[in-house]
Amino acid sequence: MIWRWCCAWTLVLFFSFPLAHGGTPPFPNFRPKEYLPPVTRDEVEVNEPQFFEVSDLRPDPGSEETLLNPEYIQMPIDHFGNGSGTYLNRYWTNGTYYQPGGPVFLFDSGEQNAEPLLPYYLQEYHGLSATMRLAKRYQGLAILWEHRFYGESLPFPVNEDTTADQWNYLTTEQALEDVIYFANSFSGNFTSSLASNPLHPSNTPWIWLGGSYPGIRGALLRIRNPLTIYAAWASSAPVQAQIDMSSYYKAAERSLTRNCSADWVAVTKYIDDNLQMGSNETVTEMKYELLKARLSGPGGNTTGADGLTMEEARNTTDVEAASILMDPLKFYQYYGFQASLLPFCNILETYNYTQAPVEGGLVASDGVEVAFQSFLTGLAEIDYDSIPGNADDPVQDLSWMWQYCSEYGFYQRGDPNNPLSIETSFISLEYFQQRCNEAFPIGLPPAPEVENVNKYGGWDMNPSNVLFTNGEFDPWRTMGLASIEPNAPFRTPDPTVPACNIPPPYSTFFGLTHSNMVHVSDLRVLLTPDSNHSDFKAVGFYSPIAQEPFYAGLGLFELALDEWLPCFTPGGVIFEQ
Ligand SMILES: *[C@@H]1O[C@H](CO)[C@@H](O)[C@H](O)[C@H]1NC(C)=O
Ligand SMILES: *[C@@H]1O[C@H](CO)[C@@H](O)[C@H](O)[C@H]1NC(C)=O
Ligand SMILES: *[C@@H]1O[C@H](CO)[C@@H](O)[C@H](O)[C@H]1NC(C)=O
Ligand SMILES: *[C@@H]1O[C@H](CO)[C@@H](O)[C@H](O)[C@H]1NC(C)=O
Ligand SMILES: *[C@@H]1O[C@H](CO)[C@@H](O)[C@H](O)[C@H]1NC(C)=O
Ligand SMILES: *[C@@H]1O[C@H](CO)[C@@H](O)[C@H](O)[C@H]1NC(C)=O
Ligand SMILES: *[C@@H]1O[C@H](CO)[C@@H](O)[C@H](O)[C@H]1NC(C)=O
Ligand SMILES: *[C@@H]1O[C@H](CO)[C@@H](O)[C@H](O)[C@H]1NC(C)=O
Ligand SMILES: *[C@@H]1O[C@H](CO)[C@@H](O)[C@H](O)[C@H]1NC(C)=O
Repeated sequence: MIWRWCCAWTLVLFFSFPLAHGGTPPFPNFRPKEYLPPVTRDEVEVNEPQFFEVSDLRPDPGSEETLLNPEYIQMPIDHFGNGSGTYLNRYWTNGTYYQPGGPVFLFDSGEQNAEPLLPYYLQEYHGLSATMRLAKRYQGLAILWEHRFYGESLPFPVNEDTTADQWNYLTTEQALEDVIYFANSFSGNFTSSLASNPLHPSNTPWIWLGGSYPGIRGALLRIRNPLTIYAAWASSAPVQAQIDMSSYYKAAERSLTRNCSADWVAVTKYIDDNLQMGSNETVTEMKYELLKARLSGPGGNTTGADGLTMEEARNTTDVEAASILMDPLKFYQYYGFQASLLPFCNILETYNYTQAPVEGGLVASDGVEVAFQSFLTGLAEIDYDSIPGNADDPVQDLSWMWQYCSEYGFYQRGDPNNPLSIETSFISLEYFQQRCNEAFPIGLPPAPEVENVNKYGGWDMNPSNVLFTNGEFDPWRTMGLASIEPNAPFRTPDPTVPACNIPPPYSTFFGLTHSNMVHVSDLRVLLTPDSNHSDFKAVGFYSPIAQEPFYAGLGLFELALDEWLPCFTPGGVIFEQ
């Protein structure tokens, strides 16, 4: 059963996927440059997509890399009620730069197994991480923290048998309180009593770093527990929980060249309309063509589709067939237009390099059926299907699904009323809710309880000591402070460092939007091209597509900490909550 558009990859915020297993670069260098002049987008600066430039500069695994052992804390499963059990909450520390008196930098890994992030965020084996750079500059202790219900930090086994009673301990509040409990109990190597421990949040600032869902958590903590978490860098944080997130693919649509958008929009509508109203023969034929394009490979190679039958096409649901048109969007939130969509748009707009592109797209010059055929060619030639998606992590899939079905929403549905939709409207709100109800037949509220998140202010929030960074074309920007959706408050990022403990004047907020960037483009950077992306352990995370956002974000956060850290007054709080 393949729900390509669904579950894992669309709703996952921050998690990466391994790219090609066999050493094939994920997006084949499909055409010699001289065949047609390379097509670039004028108004957008070119980012060399790192994942085209794979080379093998990385040392053999194990040669210089050392293992960092996990540590665990006995964490109460229930912070608020009668539950008495505990679970082992996993984390790692790197004290290389620590000097007594220095702050604590906590990097939150959020909705994923934290272990693969270790070499990237707490050891810098593949570049630089903001967490370690800050630890060095401020002589701090660095921590990588794992969220309950992910990785090995499991209060209960997570699988199809996890009960509603157990899922009920996976809430925003419980997971935030874990952090507070941890910060107040953590003593590092110091044996002194907690209150006199130099690492206690009453004695030294605890500074949060997180991107995406972890960014939400940092922002919420600055409102909920400002005495425990002193400052935060919230990267790409969709702090406004909303059931309807049709905005997700709007961000991708905005980044397209206009001719590519025109064709994508027209073909999407053409397929939706025909699947709904066409004769059985038309419908089956269309499904067949879509499946065939997905199964075919570059160079007109249709071998992969050899076994495909009309019966299989007939058996394919409308939603699954229509969402094949979204295959090219799979990688969008991590790599953006240039790296993940331009090769496809080039084929689409030139009818596989047989004619020059025109401004209105093929639909304007040749009609929608030709645009559809060209779209199918693009799907086959770029062969998105051969690019593996997320590493199989059923724990993550289920736990995050529980989180969005119960609290966050973020249903990335296709809006039939959006004239520029590039997402099939078969992916509807009802459809998402139905999938949630099927996965969790007992225990879910009738609809996600977004108030649990938005009670902290949503995209109107104005915490002090928080830096908010975003990527211009990040689909998750639409739910953050930098949103430009019609129902958003339209706030302006201002890079002026606010005084410590004072929120910046509303409606500005302290932050920046990285132009032309996507999701969490700034918390680490690769200094040399990474490995071949052939091994999840080696890649560990998606590849940043540019270096600038890292230095811009880090530089601004350092300016802020230079301002805020001197204000910290020790001895303030013993135990918040
Ligand atoms: C504590 O347990 C009692 C009895 O099982 C239950 O009625 C009550 O709601 C529980 N309190 C909380 C906060 O969970
Ligand atoms: C605690 O001690 C271990 C082993 O000596 C060391 O690796 C680690 O960095 C220390 N942690 C801190 C916070 O100093
Ligand atoms: C701690 O971080 C530094 C700098 O990133 C790195 O060189 C070192 O290997 C890390 N320590 C451990 C034990 O992994
Ligand atoms: C079309 O398909 C539907 C559902 O598969 C079926 O019930 C119906 O009889 C078919 N109509 C024709 C004319 O074949
Ligand atoms: C697209 O063009 C390439 C290069 O000319 C060719 O090999 C391939 O067969 C074409 N694909 C289709 C589906 O026509
Ligand atoms: C065509 O694709 C199949 C996989 O679908 C592959 O095994 C085969 O090597 C390809 N043929 C050529 C000539 O690339
Ligand atoms: C199509 O669906 C029917 C009824 O569910 C099933 O018996 C048949 O095996 C399916 N055919 C294929 C090719 O999947
Ligand atoms: C058409 O789209 C291609 C690919 O997105 C783009 O490079 C090109 O500039 C566009 N051409 C026109 C005339 O709009
Ligand atoms: C990268 O690919 C080359 C050629 O396929 C291979 O020899 C090398 O071992 C790969 N390196 C890594 C780190 O996977």
